[in-house]
Amino acid sequence: MKKITVMGLGYIGLPTAITLAGAGFEVCGFDVTERVIESLRGGKIHIVEPGLQEAFDKAVEGGHLHFSGELSPADVFYIAVPTPFYQDENGAHRADLRFVESAGRMAGKVITKDSLVILESTVPPRTTEMLARVLSEESGLPAESLHVAHCPERVIPGNMMYELKNNDRIIGARTPEAARMAKEIYDCVLEKGVCRVTDDVTAEMCKLTENTFRDVNIAYANELSVICDKMGINVFELIKLANCHPRVNILNPGVGVGGHCIAVDPWFIYEQFPEEAKVIHASRMRNENKPRFVAEKVLAGMKKVSDTVLVLGLSYKPDVDDLRESPSIELCHILQEKGVRVVACEPFAPAGEVSGIENLPFDEAMQRADFVVVTLGHALFQENAARIREKPHFDCVGMLAEN
Ligand SMILES: NC(=O)c1ccc[n+]([C@@H]2O[C@H](COP(=O)([O-])OP(=O)(O)OC[C@H]3O[C@@H](n4cnc5c(N)ncnc54)[C@H](O)[C@@H]3O)[C@@H](O)[C@H]2O)c1
Repeated sequence: MKKITVMGLGYIGLPTAITLAGAGFEVCGFDVTERVIESLRGGKIHIVEPGLQEAFDKAVEGGHLHFSGELSPADVFYIAVPTPFYQDENGAHRADLRFVESAGRMAGKVITKDSLVILESTVPPRTTEMLARVLSEESGLPAESLHVAHCPERVIPGNMMYELKNNDRIIGARTPEAARMAKEIYDCVLEKGVCRVTDDVTAEMCKLTENTFRDVNIAYANELSVICDKMGINVFELIKLANCHPRVNILNPGVGVGGHCIAVDPWFIYEQFPEEAKVIHASRMRNENKPRFVAEKVLAGMKKVSDTVLVLGLSYKPDVDDLRESPSIELCHILQEKGVRVVACEPFAPAGEVSGIENLPFDEAMQRADFVVVTLGHALFQENAARIREKPHFDCVGMLAEN
């Protein structure tokens, strides 16, 4: 099993391809977006991740990593394509599995009976079974005989290159042979992490459970922030004090929950179990409604309707460039709908317009601002906390606290 093709070269697929090449495999990165392949062939990565460009340069120089817009036969196929959700005509959240299915159909045309297919995307229960069916339809091989595994990726943006080698891996295999083959590969990559083998459905649910755990816990913190606001006490101080208890670990409230994972994955459980997933649903709604609460606080804090509001941070967490499902962008749109003049400073996005919001360099943004909302603790904002404090502000994340 020497030749590996990684399908989908985004936040997950690209670092995975680089790590596999670094472990000595012959890796081909495949993506349907031409711009991605062009950029990588030109030697430039298209996402922001510490240490990734250096690791990329090394892997390419080593001759083990190349890129193609055409899918060729390989021993192993990794699938790391997007799994967003959409809202149907009744407003219900549904998993959008078109990318997984289309990647499966493409791979099905080039696999053999000995190939291993690893699905790394985060997916609703029984998607790996669907993938095996699609691979079978395209290849003509019986689905039960195919070597298919779901190994959900669990790394955190900002620390991917470390976590890819040091997090434990869940191997949810559909056959014992698929488990053996997948473990052999991950064992070549892992340093501190270990492989934990299970079935595909448990692995699917494991990843969703992890992200939903985070969503529910953040919802608790966000709920506390709303209660504390009504009570006139400082939620950040409250949480700090409560966390002195040896068995309490409350997370930080914020402007909401964003990103392609935590804001999405709980819906995959709720979609299949709406009657049972009551806490999960209530938490999701609490987090989704938080930007609206923040908007009310901003409107109440503004001195006059013509004030310019500066939103500090548009990505979904500090020091990353990922804007997907961003609650800060949602906040800007709510304020704009109320007729407020909004500008933003998001140093990880290009200056100009971002989702209909004017994105300015920090100094210019501060000059224009009458009122500042801190939605993220980007390092740049932390360094300038004293300056931000001088303006009327609302701090969603406790970054401006002086103790
Ligand atoms: N971003 C994260 O932090 C993170 C963490 C853990 C798990 N995940 C999961 O990993 C998966 C991928 O997420 P991402 O953030 O890397 O997405 P991404 O949007 O950054 O990248 C996905 C890439 O797949 C490509 N693609 C789409 N269809 C394709 C096909 N048929 N064949 C080949 N390429 C195709 C797209 O062009 C894109 O470049 C998702 O299921 C996500 O939930 C993401």
